Amino acid sequence: MKPAVLVTRRLFDDVIARLRATFDVETNDADQVWTPDELRARLQGKSGVFVTGTERIDGALLDVCPMLRAVCSMAVGYNNIDLPACTARGVLVSNAPDVLTETTADLGFALMMAAARRVAEGERFLRRGEWTQWSVDLLCGSDVHGATLGILGMGRIGQAVARRGAHGFRMPVIYHNRSRLDPAIEAELGARYVSKEELLRTADHLVIVVPYSAASHHLVGAVELALMKPTATLTNIARGGIVDDAALAVALREGRIAAAGLDVFEGEPSVHPGLLEVPNVVLTPHVGSATLPTRRAMANLAVDNLVAVLGTPAQRPPTALNPEVLQRPPRGV
Ligand code: 8YV
Repeated sequence: MKPAVLVTRRLFDDVIARLRATFDVETNDADQVWTPDELRARLQGKSGVFVTGTERIDGALLDVCPMLRAVCSMAVGYNNIDLPACTARGVLVSNAPDVLTETTADLGFALMMAAARRVAEGERFLRRGEWTQWSVDLLCGSDVHGATLGILGMGRIGQAVARRGAHGFRMPVIYHNRSRLDPAIEAELGARYVSKEELLRTADHLVIVVPYSAASHHLVGAVELALMKPTATLTNIARGGIVDDAALAVALREGRIAAAGLDVFEGEPSVHPGLLEVPNVVLTPHVGSATLPTRRAMANLAVDNLVAVLGTPAQRPPTALNPEVLQRPPRGV
């Protein structure tokens, strides 16, 4: 008998077909996000689950799903999964690093440029029919080329943003991170390590790419925004909750920073009403990794992990977050 696997959101047909070759698969073709109760009910008897960033997996859920052995996510961020709870119960967790790095960095750069050059504001102005004549200071923004790029969180995506800035736009790059990069990587990126305070004070364009955790909650709030230059922009492509959106809306409204580019929001898909009211922000609906080749690669990587853990013979999952659980007897068999 094939192991049973649940897929929590609508997926590409060929990716589902790959899963069906190894598993009995239950899908979510309606693509409604299931309530926690519904998710729990559908997980009964399942050995594995394919998740995205929209499902919460925690210890209480695992305790009522004793067959579940593998939680494989197509996202790189895994703040929706309680990893210690999974590890404690012998449940393998995987994420999807690397495959979305360049695509997400592209969107980070797009939002930064749109914020700096007031692209969304200009488009709204034009569509409203307000463009009646050219003027010397119409929608003047700030330069991207040659400006100082500040990166908060210098993991894979942060480094990919830095590379674009340093090599494509001749931007001096400064960064702050939990740990300093290897000097060879710093040299390749032309990036200089600074304190968080210096980063905030010096950056012309700040791009936030830190993972979300209790420690990074409201890492940028009113105090941090007050340190930034009034001409600076802020771009968040990481997770909602890292920036205090209410404080950001006030800073944008009062011109304490020039503009922002946001792909992620606290409590998304709801967006803080203050952000919807201010003109100097460009907003996208969490589409950092949204190109078809990248979304396919992310989904296929999650499948690779599921097949490796639950297929026969079992193999080493390529991007496991807690491979140590594989040393223990499998759960639920
Ligand atoms: C995804 C993301 O679109 O990978 C992540 O962490 O935030 C996005 O790229 C989404 O979470 C996929 O489920």
